[in-house]
Amino acid sequence: MHVLLTAAELAAGVDRLAAGVERDRRPGGLVVVGVLTGSLLIVADLIRRLAGPVRVNMVWASSYRGTATAPGALEVRLDLLPDLAGQDVLVVDDIFDTGRTLEAILGELRRRGAARVRSLVLLRKQGRAEVDLTPDFVGFDIPDVFVVGYGLDFDGAYRHLDHVAALDEADVAAARAAATPPPPDPRR
Ligand code: IMP
Ligand code: MG
Repeated sequence: MHVLLTAAELAAGVDRLAAGVERDRRPGGLVVVGVLTGSLLIVADLIRRLAGPVRVNMVWASSYRGTATAPGALEVRLDLLPDLAGQDVLVVDDIFDTGRTLEAILGELRRRGAARVRSLVLLRKQGRAEVDLTPDFVGFDIPDVFVVGYGLDFDGAYRHLDHVAALDEADVAAARAAATPPPPDPRR
């Protein structure tokens, strides 16, 4: 595992993102909609840098299963959301990979009548997009590697790291071996 973005680099990136959001926002309130669970840290750091009024809601999405590093079936749950009709909304996620999570959530918020829907991602992986959608605010473009830390997990672990690290193939192989029960002993 090797460090891709230090805590200081992330902090500077969130400063830039918050400044961009402040420049873009319209008078009145902004509703930040964070995508659980990976956006926990970016949402917490971003909203503390916003000057104007803000409300926060969370939705839940998952496209990864266990020790897989490729997306599985996308599951999105928006049942925690209040009525957002007529509101200015900013959807915040940890990473834009294929883009399918963001596409699904943005589409649903528009269907529910939000007046304006913007999107912000901390990270965007190069050359992975499968949808015709560009996030309005991007913190960092990163190579196509599996990353953890600052909210991002591998099989539930590493979300608490204050930096972003890339997993090496050896890390993934070791985790998979640990997660797989050993084959039955044929002598028994
Ligand atoms: P997308 O729908 O393919 O854009 O995937 C977005 C979601 O997949 C993110 O919100 C993350 O939860 C997860 N994800 C994508 N790439 C990574 C990664 O490199 N590390 C950890 N999670 C990832
Ligand atoms: Mg996520």
